[in-house]
Amino acid sequence: MRYSMLALAAALFCGSALADDTGLRVTVGAVNVNPNAGSGHLGNVEAAAGLPAGSTELDVSSNTQLGLIFTYDMDPNWSVELLAATPFSHDITLKAGGTPVDGMKVGKTKQLPPTLSLQYRFMEGQDVRPYLGLGINHTIFFQEKVDGELASTLDSLGLTGDKELKLSSSTGLAAQAGFDWKINEKTYLKAAIWYADIDTDAKVKVDGQTVQKVKVNVDPVVAFIGVGYRF
Ligand code: NI
Repeated sequence: MRYSMLALAAALFCGSALADDTGLRVTVGAVNVNPNAGSGHLGNVEAAAGLPAGSTELDVSSNTQLGLIFTYDMDPNWSVELLAATPFSHDITLKAGGTPVDGMKVGKTKQLPPTLSLQYRFMEGQDVRPYLGLGINHTIFFQEKVDGELASTLDSLGLTGDKELKLSSSTGLAAQAGFDWKINEKTYLKAAIWYADIDTDAKVKVDGQTVQKVKVNVDPVVAFIGVGYRF
């Protein structure tokens, strides 16, 4: 009798431990994309504006949105995760230290950077579970807009006409680290960071003709903090 009670207790314990560590989880929180932006030089703009060669590049501002993380725990250690978010909005400016156009507004873009990762979770059975992940990021840029400051600068260089900014989509690797901190059987806190390799070709067009093309290394650090629920 005592033995069977122990067996039952062990079965219940193992059953709940398993249920606790596998299956679907959803986390909602704030996600910040902070670009380490650098780019090629805007050679055509430099030549037209009489700026020193190699004096200009593009910079991309950071932005915070609502983030949604779907995690499927395949077993107590291995998981697959999808990071999704509401669209990020970034300002694009000119970095041109020592020239009059430093800080000039180039435009704006929105982007969605869904990221799918495979994760390994450490410290099985503990309340705090650190993890490492590696995955693929696909970033789509949309609703790109030319700022009035760039438009009037192009006008003053004789490049009058309809101006457009176009950013190509990007696919690259993303590495991540994070942890889940169990509050109770169903809920937990999550904090995580990613480094995503996001590169895009930015084109400035006037009347459909590309007047400047430059490769931008957005390469952001993405940081997330939120609350999750296990189903
Ligand atoms: Ni890159």
